[in-house]
Amino acid sequence: MRLAVIAGDGIGPEVVAEGLKVLGEVAPDLETTPYDLGAARWQRTGELLPDSVLDELRRHDAILLGAIGDPGVPPGILERGLLLRLRFELDHHVNLRPAKLFDGVRSPLAEPGAIDMLCIREGTEGPYVGNGGVLRRDTPQEIATEVSLNTAFGVERVVRYAFERAIARPRKHLTLIHKTNVLTHAGSLWSRTVEEVSAEFPEVTVAYQHVDAATMFFVTDPTRFDVIVTDNLFGDIVTDLAAAVTGGIGLAASGNLDASGTNPSMFEPVHGSAPDIAGTGVADPTAAVLSVGLLLEHLGRTEQAKKVNAAVAFDLSTRDPGAPIRTQEVGDRLAALA
Ligand code: NAI
Ligand code: MG
Repeated sequence: MRLAVIAGDGIGPEVVAEGLKVLGEVAPDLETTPYDLGAARWQRTGELLPDSVLDELRRHDAILLGAIGDPGVPPGILERGLLLRLRFELDHHVNLRPAKLFDGVRSPLAEPGAIDMLCIREGTEGPYVGNGGVLRRDTPQEIATEVSLNTAFGVERVVRYAFERAIARPRKHLTLIHKTNVLTHAGSLWSRTVEEVSAEFPEVTVAYQHVDAATMFFVTDPTRFDVIVTDNLFGDIVTDLAAAVTGGIGLAASGNLDASGTNPSMFEPVHGSAPDIAGTGVADPTAAVLSVGLLLEHLGRTEQAKKVNAAVAFDLSTRDPGAPIRTQEVGDRLAALA
């Protein structure tokens, strides 16, 4: 099995190094190939994602990504030309974001309870497809549109994936988050699809929340959620909140999946390149290590994934919450535990 590694910018290479340290411990047979993509390459050569590199990436079994982004690059260039392009070209229609409150981790909530959600965000449609335009720019009559695209095919495949994940979990519960009362066209498609697919999964109980009410419950009653399925934009927003209530950005892992298995799936910490702390050795590599866990699980290496997750769970339960994080020390501990 072959793994492509895009360490990227800022703290990306720092946390990926620790992720690979742990991976080397549990899966030494995985062959890794580094790819130089991100702000530094763009600044040096003007290249974002050459077609030849994309073709090479396609020939791997999975991709591990650190973070992409640099204050010296104008906004939108790396996001659209590299990150979003990877997701669209590789058809990463499932954006998987677990949010579990590990023992020993302090939530900002006074009484968080045992939070354990699996957020499934659609990754290739919605308002992120670039379907829009601008007229009369920089005039008082400027018009800007950003159209949300929802296809029966795209909604069905992500909803089906969510049901498959829900039925494999103890609670077997799925919540659709949308805004069906106002976004009635897309909302109706999402609701009808959930209802139709639910007929094939009679053991799964289904709930619905409007996205605004959902943000309230993420704070007041987050344990009501098990698996969540939602569109690209709502998913982007609620998963940051889910990360916040379960210990923050240093712990949030994600997978961008082509659930059909046609293209390699890509695993990455949710956080960005954190230029404010890059180079200081204080970034928490736990999110990157948990992303390695998701990657191993995706590749069917369940036992190896369990070892990674157990190492993280043990480390978090024994960490001194007041002690500063040292990136390499955390990686060394996790590698020794795994
Ligand atoms: P960010 O996630 O990089 O940083 C937000 C805050 O969280 C900062 O204070 C940072 O120091 C802290 N932080 C992030 N990761 C941490 C970790 N592992 N340990 C401890 N603290 C951590 O988000 P921000 O500042 O909005 O974006 C910085 C750059 O990253 C931008 O260029 C942005 O476009 C890019 N970005 C890239 C993403 C990706 O590659 N998928 C995702 C989000 C942002
Ligand atoms: Mg986001």
